[in-house]
Amino acid sequence: MAILVTGGAGFIGANFVLDWVAQTDEKIINLDKLTYAGNLQTLASLEGDPQHVFVQGDINDGALLGQLLTEHQPRAVINFAAESHVDRSIHGPEDFIQTNIVGTFRLLEAVRGYWKGLPEALRESFRLLHVSTDEVYGSLEAQAPAFTEQHAYAPNSPYSASKAASDHLVRSYHHTYGLPVLTTNCSNNYGPFHFPEKLIPLVIVNALAGKALPIYGDGQQIRDWLYVKDHCSAIRRVLEAGQVGEVYNVGGWNEKPNLEIVERICGLLDELQPRADGNPYHNQINFVADRPGHDRRYAIDARKLERELGWKPSETFETGIRKTVEWYLANQWWVQGVQSGSYRDWVARQYGGQGE
Ligand code: NAD
Ligand code: TYD
Repeated sequence: MAILVTGGAGFIGANFVLDWVAQTDEKIINLDKLTYAGNLQTLASLEGDPQHVFVQGDINDGALLGQLLTEHQPRAVINFAAESHVDRSIHGPEDFIQTNIVGTFRLLEAVRGYWKGLPEALRESFRLLHVSTDEVYGSLEAQAPAFTEQHAYAPNSPYSASKAASDHLVRSYHHTYGLPVLTTNCSNNYGPFHFPEKLIPLVIVNALAGKALPIYGDGQQIRDWLYVKDHCSAIRRVLEAGQVGEVYNVGGWNEKPNLEIVERICGLLDELQPRADGNPYHNQINFVADRPGHDRRYAIDARKLERELGWKPSETFETGIRKTVEWYLANQWWVQGVQSGSYRDWVARQYGGQGE
């Protein structure tokens, strides 16, 4: 038996692959284009392990997808592959349309062709799990209840709009062709191997480098943070027991304003690796221009997943953020490895003189 994942060299996909190999004996085929966000160093511990088969390639390549499906006969496909960074989608939406929408369409077509040809028993048990985001639901007012699976889609950024489109395509392939799909919509993740363009790893890495910690606008935007290993356990649970055609929201009941997150990281660093001059990391905080169209608040109601499939997160924000900061302190080699020329170009373009 085998499963095929796409985007398994990125942040969440790679954490999923590492956990899968640690917890099961089942083969995992990993198709990843290795964009700036994909990193084989994250998977270095699996080198030479025959349980993990890495293939560099694009989900837009229907022929390659068809060939991999025929060769490995997976019982499930999990789609992590995406362009995932909101700020990049504002600077250049094209890649988001190509990978998140067209790529998901090509994957659906390839999987549909493969699935139709399976013997009946395998066709029955086959699953395509599409990994998506809470951002498809848009922005919440301060007192509004958290997003349930019934919340209307109202995406506000090119990123979230492209993910919303992909969710709709996945849904339509179930209703039209009977493809056995599952969709998860998860809140913001954090944890090991998170590319330092997103808030939490950027703040840790900049703090240690003595650089400014850029806070967009007033820093009172709220995100609902989930430790990445808890997202991975939710995906495994949905794959194992989710109802075909259903959507499951995944979240950790950890709504926090950005400024509080940054202050928390500064406090942990003051404790674990104090600055040489004895000053608090807090002094590096720098308020910068707001993100255009910045969503004010996300919050996930994950009760369906808990009620129907018995899933709960294992980490609180307090335990998860401590583990994360400790991981970055212990794994500076990984951070240095991903800070290539293209990473530096992005930082210069996004933050210019303001964030440095
Ligand atoms: P990421 O940007 O870290 O990784 C994406 C991976 O996909 C990279 O390895 C990249 O090389 C690969 N990829 C990109 N385009 C590809 C293509 N055309 N073909 C094959 N591979 C391609 O993203 P992530 O944070 O790991 O997110 C994974 C998934 O989870 C995404 O679908 C994202 O929308 C979703 N999600 C992310 C979060 C979060 O907080 N990071 C929260 C909820 C949902
Ligand atoms: P991010 O990690 O990019 O995730 P998303 O936009 O998908 O939620 O950003 C999380 C929050 O942090 C978001 O409200 C934007 C804010 N932010 C900053 O204030 N400064 C930064 O440098 C970055 C990257 C994000």
